[in-house]
Amino acid sequence: MGHKMIGLFDSGHGGLTVLRAAVRQLPDESFLFLGDHALAPYGERSPEEVYRLTCSRVAYLFDRGCNLVILACNTVSAVALRRLQQTWLPLHYPQHRVLGVLVPVVEGITGVPWQIRGPEANGHSKVGLVGIFGTRRTVESRAYPREIICRAAGMTVVQQACPGLVPLIEDNAPTGEIERRVEDFTELLILRCGGIAPDYVILGCTHYPLIEEAFRKALPQHSRIVSQPLWVARSLDNYLNRHPHFKRRYQECPGVIFETTGELGYTSEHGSRLFGDEIRFQEARAAA
Ligand code: DGL
Repeated sequence: MGHKMIGLFDSGHGGLTVLRAAVRQLPDESFLFLGDHALAPYGERSPEEVYRLTCSRVAYLFDRGCNLVILACNTVSAVALRRLQQTWLPLHYPQHRVLGVLVPVVEGITGVPWQIRGPEANGHSKVGLVGIFGTRRTVESRAYPREIICRAAGMTVVQQACPGLVPLIEDNAPTGEIERRVEDFTELLILRCGGIAPDYVILGCTHYPLIEEAFRKALPQHSRIVSQPLWVARSLDNYLNRHPHFKRRYQECPGVIFETTGELGYTSEHGSRLFGDEIRFQEARAAA
């Protein structure tokens, strides 16, 4: 049996925000990060295409020795995860597991575990206005409002799609340009909220925490940005404690391998800037 690793997958650099939190939370684990930089962004692709790409990338990570894969991408988690778990996984890899990034943040914001929905949850229902920024596909899927409201009927959820923002982040656009775009999307979100500032804000695309500063600047002061990477990392820790056979074997070394379908030089250089640490991407051998 090969080296046991936890796989993380995103269309590009966004998943690094989840990886960073996961490594902090679980410094003794081994991770393999796959960025599909050659095909980013995913957020405007059709749901069918997102599903097909996800199956192929997850299969790649399984074949590289990951028994557990985290879809470190909201678009993929919202659009493809359920179908993948219900049909593809039991058929092709019944012993492996795939987790997404929506469940932890919905549990975190509502205070209600995922298994509980509907009237059962509403006894301890939280209230508040939740603003969500995401890609077009994430917003269209309505996964966030559906899953939040059935656990906390007292919450109002307002979504704002931010088309074009992921490419600006991937292409290392000037801060001023990113800030202007974020200001516009924030203004649109607040308009949709009827002019009221949201109590909680979910940056529902793993790329957006890379430019959290721009969101912080644009949002009213009392709007609290919920940290999705942190919730995901805690939830992974909890999952591993309940399923210890996915943990690293004691004789193996902890660490992180970075792989990409994109251009190695630019991806490593830009990735290091965003990650805040020197990282070297290797070629994803057979992912394309
Ligand atoms: N990081 C992905 C997400 O969380 C980005 C999607 C994209 O590639 O457009 O949705």
